[in-house]
Amino acid sequence: MCALPIRESLKRIQVYAPAKSTEETKRETNDRPVVRLAANENTLGFSPLVEQAIREAVSTIHLYPDSFATRLRAKLSAARGFSPDRLLFGNGSFELLSLSAQAYLSPGDEAVIPVPSFGWYKVATLAAGGVPVEVPLRNHKIGLNDLKAAVTERTKLVWLCNPNNPTGTYYGEEELETFLADLSPEIAVVVDEAYFEYVDQPDYPDTVKLLDRYPNLIALRTFSKVYGLAGIRVGYAVAAEETIRTLNRLRLPPNVSALAQAAATASLDDTAFVQAVLDNNRAGKQYYYDSFRELGLSYLPTETNFLMVDLGFDSSSVFAELLRQGVLVRPGSDFGMPSWLRISIGKPEENRLVIEKLSEALAVASSSSNK
Ligand SMILES: Cc1ncc(COP(=O)(O)O)c(C=O)c1O
Repeated sequence: MCALPIRESLKRIQVYAPAKSTEETKRETNDRPVVRLAANENTLGFSPLVEQAIREAVSTIHLYPDSFATRLRAKLSAARGFSPDRLLFGNGSFELLSLSAQAYLSPGDEAVIPVPSFGWYKVATLAAGGVPVEVPLRNHKIGLNDLKAAVTERTKLVWLCNPNNPTGTYYGEEELETFLADLSPEIAVVVDEAYFEYVDQPDYPDTVKLLDRYPNLIALRTFSKVYGLAGIRVGYAVAAEETIRTLNRLRLPPNVSALAQAAATASLDDTAFVQAVLDNNRAGKQYYYDSFRELGLSYLPTETNFLMVDLGFDSSSVFAELLRQGVLVRPGSDFGMPSWLRISIGKPEENRLVIEKLSEALAVASSSSNK
């Protein structure tokens, strides 16, 4: 049998490996309950208003969804002060990342990617026929000067992730402005701000405010994290009107389902839920910082709902032991940081379980290395 010939550039794409699914994990733990802290999901769930809105929207699912997402657009614009014409909704930010690459990369064009960062930037680049130019982080942070140094006349896109996944680190306003001021306005800068709402730092850039001066910017945000809607798939781009029109040409017409639109719209009404999520995250973050210090482990201070801890030796055995004990986190080897673990911040009892099981696993690891 003769396989169909595929585009050359696709041969370089490795299938994206998300965190293990709950089903997969259950098989590995013989069906014992698993605390899932591997995909930076919202373990507080989602607002009760969302469930109500989905129930009501179910009666409309024989109809195609509103391709313009009119209600969601109006609600989000009003809540955030965005111009409605500067918004585009997607099937999660994943879709919007891919659309950005398709829109601005022609075969052979370069896209600058910080590493480690979110894995989809590379896939989206390769899928569009682009050439990824990978630039290592500096002290676990995206160094905009380093990215700038990697820009050539073939560069058409720069991927930024702020705060960065997997490190949880951020760059500030001044650094971003200096970078943009010095960059050709013909290079698209995609700023993935999936964890935007969690950031506590006063110098975190307001990318949307920069759009008038830098229309080459595309800010991406999502309902998957702080609103807890990862399973229903809604993300959005905020960009100059012309950019939105360009991305809209490529968008699948009904890309955000009726249920997803209803859920996202309702979630914007529940500011108390969002506040509870942020309060829980802040407390959880502090608990981890204190616990890691007590355990003598280094960690990266985070502006997100996850954090990285360095075990000081290959973390794969501890990762496997945690999983056996019913705690699923993410091994740093997935990001080229083999001695680290990435842990999503959960509810207090989940965080306590992580620390309890981590302490036990570390004790076992240290006694076996002493033998
Ligand atoms: C940095 C970053 N961007 C994008 C995504 C995907 O978001 P969405 O669920 O909106 O597709 C994630 C998910 O973990 C992420 O960490």
